[in-house]
Amino acid sequence: MKSAMRSNFIDTYKVAALFYIIVKMKGIYLAFEGGEGFGKSTQAKILFEKLKEKFPKRKIILTREPGGSSIAEEVREIILTSRKDEQIQLLTEAYLFAAARAQSLRESVVPVLEEGGIVISDRTFYSSIAYQGFGRELGWKKVWKINQEAVGKIKPDLVYLFDGDPKIGLDRICKNKRETNRLDKEKLEFHKRVRKGFLFLCDKEPKRFVTIDGCSSIEKQSEIIWAQFCRFNRRSAYDSAKMVQ
Ligand code: TYD
Repeated sequence: MKSAMRSNFIDTYKVAALFYIIVKMKGIYLAFEGGEGFGKSTQAKILFEKLKEKFPKRKIILTREPGGSSIAEEVREIILTSRKDEQIQLLTEAYLFAAARAQSLRESVVPVLEEGGIVISDRTFYSSIAYQGFGRELGWKKVWKINQEAVGKIKPDLVYLFDGDPKIGLDRICKNKRETNRLDKEKLEFHKRVRKGFLFLCDKEPKRFVTIDGCSSIEKQSEIIWAQFCRFNRRSAYDSAKMVQ
């Protein structure tokens, strides 16, 4: 009798917990990463529009790094503007990216995740590991140390990595006459090291990263991005349900 009552209580508890999980949905944090000229920002916008259409009641934001809050946007100006008089030290550059991040994550990203929304970010701290750690050769461990406190536990759930030969990406930027920043103007060797950095991260965190061929068509890229999002969404719903079994 007692054990029947206990089992009833556990079942009710399970249902209540499942209900709680469904009602209080977990936020989703999606990152778009990779070298220049492979359609990363275009695809971030496409996914943003699609998600807004599919989940009209959910809070969804598209943000960027560096940037995404007014203070972080001011820091962005300092980092990306080319100067003739004084050069930004490599260490200063790494700290500035981390500083902008500490601000925008807390100001813009966390509140949306806490209310169960979806955040799409055009670049995250993974760019710091690739650009400052590998491109600038500061070393990934040092760059992670600089970023650790700024990032805390706020890591993307899914990272779309746009990959391709940097020469092709840079040629595309030139042809499209896209405005270039201080880092775009670095030599090809720099961009090759950045690519190596991203591939290193992809190897290190295979469950979090999905590679997108930077040279495939816009349609093909967005098809894969959507399919991966749906896969991720199903998997996390399954994981949540498993938690209460
Ligand atoms: P942006 O104009 O946003 O270009 P992109 O379309 O390539 O994202 O410029 C951001 C630049 O800053 C880009 O060259 C990558 C670089 N970057 C870093 O070096 N470290 C970082 O942590 C971040 C977020 C970006």
